[in-house]
Amino acid sequence: MSDVVGYEVEGRIAVLTIDNPPVNALGLAVREGIVARMEQAAGDDAADAIVLIGAGRTFPAGADIREFDQPARDPHLVAVIDRLDGIEKPIVAAIHGTALGGGLELTLGCHFRVASPDARVGLPEINLGIFPGAAGTQRLPRVASLDHALELIVSGRPIGAARALEYGIVDTVVEGDLRAGAIAFAEKILADRMNRRISSEPRAGIGSEDEFADVIQKYRDLANQRFRGQESPHQAIESVIDGLRMPYEDAVAADRTRFEACKNSDQSKALRYAFFAEREAAKIPDIGKEVTPREIGSTAVIGAGTMGRGIAISLADSGLSVTVVEAGQEALDSGMAELEKLYDGMVARGRIDEATKKERLGRITGAVDYAATSDVDLVIEAAFEDLDVKKGIFAQLDQVAKPGAILATNTSYLDIDAIAAQTSRPEDVIGLHYFVPANVMRMLEVVRADKSAPDAVATGMALAKRTGKVGVLARVCHGFIANRSRAPLVREATFLVEEGAAPAQVDKVLTDLGMPLGPLAVSDMSGLDVSWRMRQSLAGERDPEARYMYLADRMCELGRFGIKAGQGWYAYEDGGRRPLPDGDVEAIAADVAREQGITRREISDEEIRARCLYGAINEGAKIVDEGIAARASDIDVMWLYGFGYPRWHGGIMFTADEIGLAEIYEQVKAFHGEHGKLWEPSPLLERLAAEGGGFTR
Ligand code: 3HC
Repeated sequence: MSDVVGYEVEGRIAVLTIDNPPVNALGLAVREGIVARMEQAAGDDAADAIVLIGAGRTFPAGADIREFDQPARDPHLVAVIDRLDGIEKPIVAAIHGTALGGGLELTLGCHFRVASPDARVGLPEINLGIFPGAAGTQRLPRVASLDHALELIVSGRPIGAARALEYGIVDTVVEGDLRAGAIAFAEKILADRMNRRISSEPRAGIGSEDEFADVIQKYRDLANQRFRGQESPHQAIESVIDGLRMPYEDAVAADRTRFEACKNSDQSKALRYAFFAEREAAKIPDIGKEVTPREIGSTAVIGAGTMGRGIAISLADSGLSVTVVEAGQEALDSGMAELEKLYDGMVARGRIDEATKKERLGRITGAVDYAATSDVDLVIEAAFEDLDVKKGIFAQLDQVAKPGAILATNTSYLDIDAIAAQTSRPEDVIGLHYFVPANVMRMLEVVRADKSAPDAVATGMALAKRTGKVGVLARVCHGFIANRSRAPLVREATFLVEEGAAPAQVDKVLTDLGMPLGPLAVSDMSGLDVSWRMRQSLAGERDPEARYMYLADRMCELGRFGIKAGQGWYAYEDGGRRPLPDGDVEAIAADVAREQGITRREISDEEIRARCLYGAINEGAKIVDEGIAARASDIDVMWLYGFGYPRWHGGIMFTADEIGLAEIYEQVKAFHGEHGKLWEPSPLLERLAAEGGGFTR
C-alpha cells in the first residue's frame, strides 16, 4: 500500500493523509496512493465518510512540475479526480497552506471542502504557461460563479479562505485543529444525511456562452493586459468556454489536447525554467541551511534621497523599524516629507488605507546624527554613488554601530571590498543593490564582498525574502551581475544610433522581444547623466583601445539628460513623459559619427537584436566564468525581476541556449572582428559552443 498517502480510521471516518514533502506535489506515487487509499476507504466497512488532508506545511500545491518534462504516466490526475465522483461515501477535502493548481482541482473532485483560516487556494497554472489541466476549468465554474472561476483561472492569483468561502469554493472555515474540524464536518454530513456534491454534474444556471459574453470579454481583456504576448491565459478561457458548449466529458477531452499543446510550448518551457531558476537563486552553493541569518528587528537607512526613501518604505512595510539618517535637518525634513507623500500616493491609489499608512509611517523616524544607528541590527547606506563618500560613511558607521550589526551599501557598481576596508569589521559588510523604485521593484542584488561572513550574506538573502523581494547573490566586480550584464545592451544601443539607427528603431526591436521599454527610453527615464557621471569617474581607467560612448557623452554635454530635461534620446513635449522622435538626435549622432570616422548606414532590425542581446549574453558568460554569479540562471532571474525581461523567454542566458551557443559565438566573433575589443568572446561561450553545451541545461 502507499507510502505517501497514509490511512487511519477515526470513529467512522477514514482519514487519508498525503505526505510528500515539501509541498505534497501530486507526483505519480501520490496519484497512485490516492487512488489506492480511496478504494480502500470505499471498501472499508469501518468507514462511512472520508477526509483527505495534507501532512506538513500544505495541502498539495499542485501537480509535480518536474514531471512535465517526462512522458505522462497513468493514473493521470484527471482520472484520479474523476474516480472520486463514483465513490459513494462523502469525501471532505481539508485544506491548509496552499491548495494550488492540481491541489485545488483535487479538492474540487472531493464532495465537500473545509479550510483553515490562513489557507489559500488558487490556480496559478498560467504562470507556468499552461492552464488548469485536471478539469479545473470545468469543475470550478460549476462550484463558484463563472466570473469568480475565471478570476482565479486567468489572474493566477490565489485567494484566502474567507474569500474562498464567499465564492462558494469552500463550505466552511475551521478554526482550531483542521483534522479534528474536518472529521467533525464529515460526521455532520452523515448525521444530516447530506447528499454528496459532485462538481462534474451539470449545474443549473451555468448558462451559455452568449449569456456570459461580458464576463468572458472582461477576462480576455485582463489576459491581454496582464499577460501580453502569452498564449496560455487565452487557452484557459477557451477551455472554460468549451465547458459551456459541451458536456463535461467532451470538454475534458478537448482540454487534454489543449493542455498538451500548452505544456509543450516554448513559452511554458521558459516559464517553468523561470520558476525553478528563481528557487535555485535562493541557494548559495557554499552556505548551507546550517548557517543561520542574523536577527534583524531594527534598521537604519543612510540618506533620504530617492533610493533611501524607497528602501525605508520597503523595510517599514515589512514590519521593521527604520531610522532614516540625513546630513542636516533641512535635508532630513524634506526627505521625510517626500516619504510621506509616497505613502499618500498609495492611499490615493487605494493600495493602502489611512490607518495602514499611519502604522507604517510610524515605524520610520528621522535623525541627523550617526549615533542614532548605534542600536540597530542593520544599516543600509544609500548615499550618493561616489566611492569616497561611501568610504567616509562606513568609517563613521564603524565607530558607532553595535557589534554584529550588518553594514550594507546600496551601491550599484562600486568596489565593496574597498568600502569594507574602511571598517574594522569587513566581515559584517555586504552590498544590497536595490532597483528603483526600491519599494516597488522586487529585485534585490545581494553582494558578497571578499570578507563578508557567511551569516552576513545569509542575512542579506533572508532580508530579501522577508521584504517580499527576490534575492540574487553576486560577487564584487564593476556593476556586479545586473548592471554589468546589461551595460553592453545600452552600449550597443547608443553605438547603433551613432552608426545610423533611429532611437525608436532600436527600442522597438527590444520591445518586440517582449521588454516593456527599450533601453534608450529607459535611459531617458532614469537620466542620461547618471551613467555620464559614472564614465567620468572611471575616466582614468578607460581602455584606450576600446570603443567609447562619445554620443552618449555628447547628449549630456548638450543637456539632453532625458525626461527631466524635456529631451534625451527622444523629445518630450510640455513636461510630458511620452517619447517623441527628435530629428536633432540624428543630427547630433551624424556629427559624432563624422568626428569618429564612422560611416552611417542603414541598420537592420536583426543586427540591432544581435548586437544588443548577444553583447549582454557574452558578458553574462564572462560573469559566470569569473564566478561573479553562482550560475547562469541567476543572471536570468535578475533580468526577469530587475529589467522586465519577458518571463516567457526565461532570461537572456536561457534565450541564448534556445538560439544555440554555436550561432551566438560565431556572431560574437564576427562583431569582435568588426567592432573591436569590447566584443572579446567569453572563453566559456567559446567552450560551450564547441561542446554543443548550454548555460542553463
Ligand atoms: N512541483 C514540484 N516542485 C515544487 C512544486 C510543484 N508544484 N511547488 C513547489 N515545489 C518545490 C520547489 O521547487 C522547492 O524545491 P527546492 O526546495 O528543491 O528548491 C520546494 O518545493 C519549496 O518551494 P518554495 O521554495 O517555492 O516554497 P515556498 O514556501 O516559498 O512556496 C508554494 C510554496 C507557494 C507552494 C510555491 O512553491 C509555489 O507557488 N509552487 C508552485 C505552485 C503551482 O504552480 N502549482 C501548479 C502546478 S501545475 C498544475 O498543478 C497542473 C495541473 O493543473 C494539472
